[in-house]
Amino acid sequence: MWPDRRLIDLFKTEFPIVLAPMAGVTDQDLAIAVAEGGGLGSLACAMVSAEKAREQVNILRQRISAPVNMNFFCHKPVELTPEAEARWKQRLAGYYAELGLDPAAPVSFANRAPFDAAFCEVVEELKPEIVSFHFGLPEPALLRRVQAAGCLVISSATTVKEAVWLEQHGVDAVIAQGAEAGGHRGMFLTDKIAEQPGTFALVPQVVDAVKVPVIAAGGIADGRGIAAAFALGAAGVQIGSAYLRCPESRVSAAGRAALAEGRDDSTVITNVMTGRPARGVQNRLMREVGPISADAPPFPHAANALGPLKAAAEKQGRVDFTNLWAGQAIALGREVPAAELTRDLAKSALARMKALAG
Ligand SMILES: Cc1cc2nc3c(=O)[nH]c(=O)nc-3n(C[C@H](O)[C@H](O)[C@H](O)COP(=O)(O)O)c2cc1C
Repeated sequence: MWPDRRLIDLFKTEFPIVLAPMAGVTDQDLAIAVAEGGGLGSLACAMVSAEKAREQVNILRQRISAPVNMNFFCHKPVELTPEAEARWKQRLAGYYAELGLDPAAPVSFANRAPFDAAFCEVVEELKPEIVSFHFGLPEPALLRRVQAAGCLVISSATTVKEAVWLEQHGVDAVIAQGAEAGGHRGMFLTDKIAEQPGTFALVPQVVDAVKVPVIAAGGIADGRGIAAAFALGAAGVQIGSAYLRCPESRVSAAGRAALAEGRDDSTVITNVMTGRPARGVQNRLMREVGPISADAPPFPHAANALGPLKAAAEKQGRVDFTNLWAGQAIALGREVPAAELTRDLAKSALARMKALAG
């Protein structure tokens, strides 16, 4: 019944729906629920250790027999220079003073480690059916090891040029991530944020430029969006924001409240939370310092000095410094179990496509 079965055949899932990996706010529970609903469950590994990633896959494998996607970042680590750190601390000094925090106190922060040998060993050991990358691909030797383990490899492209590059470097499918998408822009051949195309423009141009199946991502949150993605030539969709309010996600209570109030214009692309452009619900820091600031140190270091501010504000019930990543379609998200949501998405997409076909 799906007009294009290439992704279903490749991933061996019931539906061509991929749960977007969402580091920091999801774990195996959401992946299991989406897999139970017939989609592809994804485990975001960017903010967990190799050990934790192994544990999550093992839990998933015990609970369900379904393909799984392990997702990793593959940015090139950049040192934080003392000058960049001092400039950022200076920029945030007023907030530290307001919250009564000592800017000189050491901070502990959630790291965002790129795919490395330790992660690669976990992949070789557990052989997830699919491995997805964000920010390009890992170095060739690591990539070859992932492929040799029998994993399908997919990665995000934010421009046609990135999609062609990914295909030339051996991916099995390309995720075309439009500017509407929540979370970090997967951009890796460009840093020109103002040039990033939206999903509706990007998907058909990527479809024309590559032979591998294209997975549309960004702003897709219901059957209409899925039907539109297929009309544009996509063979599947990757959906993130629409799953954030599911009971299986790990979004905080304050975050859930902000998402529930979300509108079409609630989010912005900002670099002030981590140093890399990402779309999230606009907060006080994004409004007052961003959304784009030259003072933000490179990814992921901008997040370090924000840790104490985030924690202190959250204690007071405020999300002034919280990176609540979400896309432009958050208002379409619903508070329903993820398996049910996945089945509903597939059903309503098929009904919409049937109606359009007359
Ligand atoms: C909260 C959140 C966290 C995200 N974290 C990741 C991640 O760890 N890895 C990744 O490849 N993409 C990540 N993304 C981007 C998604 O893969 C995807 O491009 C996006 O969710 C699609 O747009 P949508 O949110 O409008 O559905 C994240 C998105 C969100 C909303």
